[in-house]
Amino acid sequence: MALLGAGGAGSALGVGLAAAGIAVTAVWSRRFERAQALAAQLPGAEALADPQAAAERGALVVLAVPDSAIAPLCAQLRWRAGQAVIHLAGAYGRELLAAAARAGAETGAFHPLQTFAGPADPRAWHGVGIAIDADPPLADELVWLARQLGAEPFPLDPAQRPLYHAAAAIAANGFVALVGTAAELLGRAAGLERARAVRHLLPLLRGVLHNLEQLGLPQALTGPVARADRATLERHVAALAQAAPEWQTLYRELCRAMLPLARERAAADPERLAAL
Ligand SMILES: NC(=O)c1ccc[n+]([C@@H]2O[C@H](COP(=O)([O-])OP(=O)(O)OC[C@H]3O[C@@H](n4cnc5c(N)ncnc54)[C@H](OP(=O)(O)O)[C@@H]3O)[C@@H](O)[C@H]2O)c1
Repeated sequence: MALLGAGGAGSALGVGLAAAGIAVTAVWSRRFERAQALAAQLPGAEALADPQAAAERGALVVLAVPDSAIAPLCAQLRWRAGQAVIHLAGAYGRELLAAAARAGAETGAFHPLQTFAGPADPRAWHGVGIAIDADPPLADELVWLARQLGAEPFPLDPAQRPLYHAAAAIAANGFVALVGTAAELLGRAAGLERARAVRHLLPLLRGVLHNLEQLGLPQALTGPVARADRATLERHVAALAQAAPEWQTLYRELCRAMLPLARERAAADPERLAAL
């Protein structure tokens, strides 16, 4: 395999492959020192300064560059039949690799439902869903590859990739934004600086993840909406109106999203829930 791109996702993939005993022969990154740093972690891998030279070293070539750079990089390289090229983007399908397909290469998309930031850790792949779009035989190879990483591959209709990726962005990036908002409000309420507010939120968030893992939906939903506690919700809304009016709309929309789960959980009186 050849890895073109040594950022968060490329590094995580390289380290995951190395842990699974799969050889990465060549690594390229726009900045050579970044390719060198990743290649140093992958037994047998060589950092190359030229993307074409790197691509030629792989039967399977991974374009692990930002979404907007995939098609231009693919178009800049020479491809041949017998070679396969994949990208890691969630919101796009194989259309980004049309230049390689025209030259006879197999093309595919391989998107991990995971977030990669900080030092690469092979355990980050365990149990991760991987949305695959490819034709056989590449599709079978990508399924095999995903399983070697300890991940769980599934096919995804290319037309559904934008919606699928919006879901991933809500869960991952939306979650971080919600924590940022909660930390800001906690800071205003208790005079805590942001890092400390986040630290105090972490046990709560771990509890939520634990409940989601152990109980699933809708049981993991607790709080005033699940209890149909109108008086407490009114206190929240009044406090936000006074101290943080910019977050009122978000709070109301989140409560709206909780309602179907609360109805499904049926922990509260249905009439009081309907009144909410
Ligand atoms: N990070 C994640 O959590 C995650 C999760 C799932 C999927 N993905 C997907 O993985 C792919 C890579 O994302 P990433 O987060 O790893 O990106 P990243 O950390 O920003 O790394 C990007 C890599 O591409 C190179 N690069 C940046 N701009 C480029 C350009 N215009 N032309 C050519 N190379 C360029 C960078 O080179 P230098 O740094 O050397 O300049 C680096 O090697 C994307 O398709 C993304 O959707 C990412």
